[in-house]
Amino acid sequence: SESIAALEPVNAAQTDVQEISKEVTILYGSQTGNAQGLAENAARTFKDKGFQVTVSSMNDYKVNNLKKVENLLIVVSTHGEGDPPDNTISFHEFLHGRRASRLENLRFSVLALGDSSYEFFCETGKQFDARLEELGGTRLFPRTDCDLDYDEPAAEWLEGVISSLSKAQGISAAPVIETLAQTAETTYTRTNPFKAEVLENINLNGRGSNKETRHVELSLEGSGLTFQPGDSLGVYPKNDSALVDMLLHELNWDPEEMVKVNKQGDLHSFRESLISCFEITVLTKSLLEQAALISGNDDLNALVATGNEAKLKEYREGRDLLDVIRDFGSWGESAQEFVSILRKMPARLYSIANSLTAYPDEVHLTIGAVRYESHGRERNGVCSILCAERLQPGDSLPVYIQHNQNFKQPVDANTPIIMIGPGTGVAPFRSFIQEREETEASGKTWLFFGDQHFVTDFLYQTEWQKWLETGALTKMDVAFSRDTNEKVYVQNRMLEHREELFRWLEEGAVIYICGDEKNMAHDVHHTLIEIIKKEGRMSQADAQAYLDVMQQNKRYQRDVY
Ligand code: 2AM
Repeated sequence: SESIAALEPVNAAQTDVQEISKEVTILYGSQTGNAQGLAENAARTFKDKGFQVTVSSMNDYKVNNLKKVENLLIVVSTHGEGDPPDNTISFHEFLHGRRASRLENLRFSVLALGDSSYEFFCETGKQFDARLEELGGTRLFPRTDCDLDYDEPAAEWLEGVISSLSKAQGISAAPVIETLAQTAETTYTRTNPFKAEVLENINLNGRGSNKETRHVELSLEGSGLTFQPGDSLGVYPKNDSALVDMLLHELNWDPEEMVKVNKQGDLHSFRESLISCFEITVLTKSLLEQAALISGNDDLNALVATGNEAKLKEYREGRDLLDVIRDFGSWGESAQEFVSILRKMPARLYSIANSLTAYPDEVHLTIGAVRYESHGRERNGVCSILCAERLQPGDSLPVYIQHNQNFKQPVDANTPIIMIGPGTGVAPFRSFIQEREETEASGKTWLFFGDQHFVTDFLYQTEWQKWLETGALTKMDVAFSRDTNEKVYVQNRMLEHREELFRWLEEGAVIYICGDEKNMAHDVHHTLIEIIKKEGRMSQADAQAYLDVMQQNKRYQRDVY
């Protein structure tokens, strides 16, 4: 683009840009879309600099081509308990397996995304980094591990990689930070969210339910934001002011004192900064380490000492900042120093529950209220309880769209789809069916829904029943787990219908799973293998391979949390 060209110093090296063969391969592994966004951004920057760029999701990449690659950049996130993202699994396995060939001519660098509140922080990135070195590759720039607030370290990594590659090519590097900022496609992004007005906020569960599931409708009018079924909405919540006031009570600084909340130097009162700008409900290892260092507190230093990892992990679980201050006292000379080690308030991602075609300028969310007790105190999910207890129509929430290429309806509207979404996992399927009704998509659709009780927890019941009548939904099977003595889950219903389910798979159906990862998605995965094994008369290994191929061909997609 012109503005980028304007930044390039005009010098003799400039003319070499086209002549030297400059090739970069950028592979990403993305679960929610952040790594993909960064990879595509990097690709644009390299293209603008005259590089020949190949950018691809790892699973779409032909692994045999790796041998010919000179410069490889890997942008990969870690999810769950140190697991690679779904669209990375086969590539990850191949590269770590015995069939991977030596890569002596390869120069590489890894940008790892993660969340430092998890034990296996940036694990997948670390594995790729170590393995590429083991296979003979040379690091052209050190691996960068990013926490949730990844923009700055990612930009620095890209700048470092470009400068190192440019040096190798004998050309001068131009500034990158500016080009990154300019490539934003819409005005409203993760770093510049849109203030969406709340149109409606209701509880979907009936009286007497153990659950509270909020249906929140927001206006996108005037934002220019658009989305597809399967995309997510990023929401920036505020901390509960009651919790902040308890925290302030333990601290000696003036709540009205102004503090800088970011590198740009934006100022907020100490109290307001704790409400809106910083995370106070999660304890990362790094936070405790820094607090120990600043405070010099012996007990806290003992807790973070090497060799004490298990204790530290146990301490962090179910505790927050208030616990740390009550247990060990505060740290820092000033409010400013106190907040300097806090993480920026991260956005929460929710699967969008409506189709933009059906509801122009609106975005709907299905949010489960999170309340629990731990270490003698009631604890609340920050965003879900904001929605459940404080957010009123007319209020606004800072939001942005997180495009998710890993959860998309089939391009061919004739392709049958099977949707498995118990609890709030049903959200994207409401969006799918709305969209299909609007576009008169012809393929068969089958929904498996589950929750605790039929009477109180059948989310969007009347809508599904209407769509069964209009034909937008072909089949629906429900599993209410606490209406009978014995638990019934979605996977029990799947097993009951295994013959038909397998037939749909053989007809080319795409299968979608949304919702709880650790228990539900895991069990459903194994049920699918069971079904394929039984109905396809296959061995365990063949059934597994069948599902792997489906995943590879994007016929098995997951949006799990
Ligand atoms: P339960 O809470 O009664 O055990 C949505 O939360 C639904 O998912 C509930 O009916 C819940 O049942 C159910 N659920 C819990 N664990 C599950 C699992 N491992 N597989 C499938 N569904 C599960």
